[in-house]
Amino acid sequence: MADAPRPVTVHDVRQRKQRGERIVMLTCYDALFARLLDDCGVDILLVGDSVNQVLAGAESTLSATLDQMIYHTRIVRRGAARAMVLCDLPFLTYQVSREEAIRNAGRVMQETGCHGVKLEGGRPMAETVRALVDVGIPVMGHLGLTPQSVHALGGYRVQGRDAAGAERLQADARALEQAGAFAIVLELVPAPLASRLSQALTIPTIGIGAGPGCDGQVLVLHDMLGLNDRFSAKFVKRYATLADAVREAARRFAAEVREGRYPGPEHSFGE
Ligand code: KIV
Repeated sequence: MADAPRPVTVHDVRQRKQRGERIVMLTCYDALFARLLDDCGVDILLVGDSVNQVLAGAESTLSATLDQMIYHTRIVRRGAARAMVLCDLPFLTYQVSREEAIRNAGRVMQETGCHGVKLEGGRPMAETVRALVDVGIPVMGHLGLTPQSVHALGGYRVQGRDAAGAERLQADARALEQAGAFAIVLELVPAPLASRLSQALTIPTIGIGAGPGCDGQVLVLHDMLGLNDRFSAKFVKRYATLADAVREAARRFAAEVREGRYPGPEHSFGE
């Protein structure tokens, strides 16, 4: 019998950077997709708080709750044998105090079996990152466009375009690295700046809308599958057009039901 695959670890992720191997991350919210992505060798499944927008239909990530993230992370973990599974800490579960951050991140780890957490923010979050790492919780940072601060940032826009913004990002990235984060997501950052940051850091960067110079890439699964077709952005490449396939299948089903063509004898049971 083949051995069960060994899960990707934080050590593997760091080594990928040292070896110049790109890290592949996708968001994932359920066990079915987790199994499919795991089969394809995706390194990291991020249970992003984007679940609140993509699946729950909310306007932003701000109303995502810890219970919601725990539920989705637990079911993703069920479907993943090899991929590292990370859970986004939702808004206000880690910003109020270090104690609360440890309690909430610890609950996520205990109740879901995931391998680490992601949180947003730079220097103001460095001590919190250190506190989590000190109790044994791997932390991925998130800089650039940090969606939990969308109102303070004035919308979903590229960050670090001017010299002051670029310097802030550099200082934030260094602070997260020194605090013990094992990797950093760079979201909506100009490609040359993301490239410079990636070269300057010893830990990997994972880009989304941050150009090809990052150590890895992440996309929201439902965007890249073309399932969430109301959302489009320059950085999203659609690798499939599943929304069209779903509509087409549903239309055919509806027509066949209405015309009495489904179910046929091959779908029905005799006595
Ligand atoms: O919540 C999320 O999906 C994310 C990714 C966009 C990185 O944070």
